[in-house]
Amino acid sequence: MLRSYKGVVPNLAEGVYVDESAVLVGDITIASDSSIWPLVAARGDVNYIKIGARTNIQDGSVLHLTRASKSNPDGYPLVIGDDVTVGHKVMLHGCKLGNRILVGMGAIIMDNVAVEDDVIIGGGALVPPNKTLESGYLYVGSPVKKARPLTEDELTFLKVSAQNYVQLKNEYLEEGQ
Ligand SMILES: CC(C)(COP(=O)(O)OP(=O)(O)OC[C@H]1O[C@@H](n2cnc3c(N)ncnc32)[C@H](O)[C@@H]1OP(=O)(O)O)[C@@H](O)C(=O)NCCC(=O)NCCS
Repeated sequence: MLRSYKGVVPNLAEGVYVDESAVLVGDITIASDSSIWPLVAARGDVNYIKIGARTNIQDGSVLHLTRASKSNPDGYPLVIGDDVTVGHKVMLHGCKLGNRILVGMGAIIMDNVAVEDDVIIGGGALVPPNKTLESGYLYVGSPVKKARPLTEDELTFLKVSAQNYVQLKNEYLEEGQ
């Protein structure tokens, strides 16, 4: 379901799949071949959401942002890069994710967090406001701690996971869903 807020409706590039039970409101831009799975709620109302190409936002995830204020003139939009896998029931709020990232199921990422390229965040992790997660590392825990460098297999898996979801959403599109 695509809904407008103050006359602005979500803008989807070619090949984007949005499950019919997802709710996307307002200023949301999604680049090609990304996918939004059942029961995702994303509100681009008091700031904007930008999602890159071949990124998947899995079931039940919630995406929101923080409005601009005197002390924070840009607020915190939500910006997600290319080839990102956002697992089931993740909360992403006013943060910036780079490219080739896996956000494990149930993780919570708060305002003004920056996740650099090629990072895995374990299931159930809590990333507190204003943290930067460094490229090439696994982070786990609540609050998250840097666990170890990613292996070559894991770095490869980040791209494979995104590609798997491109294939899956193509199958759903072919079904007419
Ligand atoms: C973190 C993760 C990548 C596994 O990393 P790993 O290094 O293979 O983990 P291991 O199984 O070797 O466990 C290493 C330690 O970390 C712990 N651990 C594993 N996952 C953890 C998590 N998410 N949070 C906290 N601790 C975790 C293990 O219990 C183990 O602890 P121990 O040494 O005290 O026994 C994985 O558990 C995970 O969370 N994956 C996310 C998957 C997902 O959500 N995908 C999206 C949906 S498709």
